[in-house]
Amino acid sequence: MSDEPDEPRSGFTRRDLVRGSLVGAVAATIGGKARAAEPESMGPGAAPLELNVNGSVHRLSLEPRVTLADALRDRIGLTGTKVVCGRGACGACTVLLDGKTVCSCLTLAHEAAGKPITTIEGLASDGRLTPLQEAFIATDALQCGFCTSGMILSCKVLLDTNPKPTRQAIREAVAGNLCRCGTYNHVFEAVERAAGQKTAKEGAPHPAPRTQQPEPNYEDDPRVAEALRQVLDEEGMA
Ligand code: FES
Ligand code: FES
Repeated sequence: MSDEPDEPRSGFTRRDLVRGSLVGAVAATIGGKARAAEPESMGPGAAPLELNVNGSVHRLSLEPRVTLADALRDRIGLTGTKVVCGRGACGACTVLLDGKTVCSCLTLAHEAAGKPITTIEGLASDGRLTPLQEAFIATDALQCGFCTSGMILSCKVLLDTNPKPTRQAIREAVAGNLCRCGTYNHVFEAVERAAGQKTAKEGAPHPAPRTQQPEPNYEDDPRVAEALRQVLDEEGMA
C-alpha cells in the first residue's frame, strides 16, 4: 500500500509535474547531442581542407562535390591514381585511406580530410621501388598499366596483413581490381614472388606435357581382355 496521499484522478498532480520535468530534461539532452552531431553544412562554393597525402600536407580549397581522385590528380598532380569507370566498378582508382583500400572516385575529398592517404607515388622511397613493385616488373604483371596502381595497392594491403598469402587469398585481394588486359596470372606470380614464395614459373614443377607422358598400355591388362571377350560373346563374334 502506498504511503502517498491519494491523488485526484484528473488535473495536474505533483507526480505528473516531476515526471514531465524528467522527460523534458532527457529530451533536451538528447536534442542537444543530436544538434551537436549534425555535420556543418558546406558548399556549394569551395571550402578549405587539408589532405595528408603520402606524408605531405596539402592545403586546398575545394567544392564539396570534388572527388578524392580528382583532387589527387588535378589539384595535387599525382596522376598515378587512374580513373577508368568513375563509378566504383573497376578499382583502378584505388588508394589507401587510413590504411584501407577505397575507391577514390567514390570518396569525396572533404571526407578524406585529415586522414592519411597513400597513393602509388607514396610506395617508393629514396628512388627505390618496393619489392612488390619490383616483382610486378619482373613478372610482366602489367600491359596498359591502367589497373596497375590500384592492383599494387590492393596487393600491398594483402601482404601487410598476410605475408604468405595463398593463391586463393591473392585472387580475393584483387577481386575488386579489374584488368582488361588479363594480367591476373602474372599479378598472382608477382605477389608470390614479393612474398618470397615459389612461383609457378620459378619453383613448382610443371606437369609434363601430354606428349611426353608414357602412353598407357592396355594390351597386357587382363581386365581389358575379359571386357573384349564379353563384348565379342554378346555380339556372337567370339
Ligand atoms: S575509376 Fe574508380 S572504381 Fe573505376
Ligand atoms: S594492365 Fe591493362 S587493364 Fe590491367
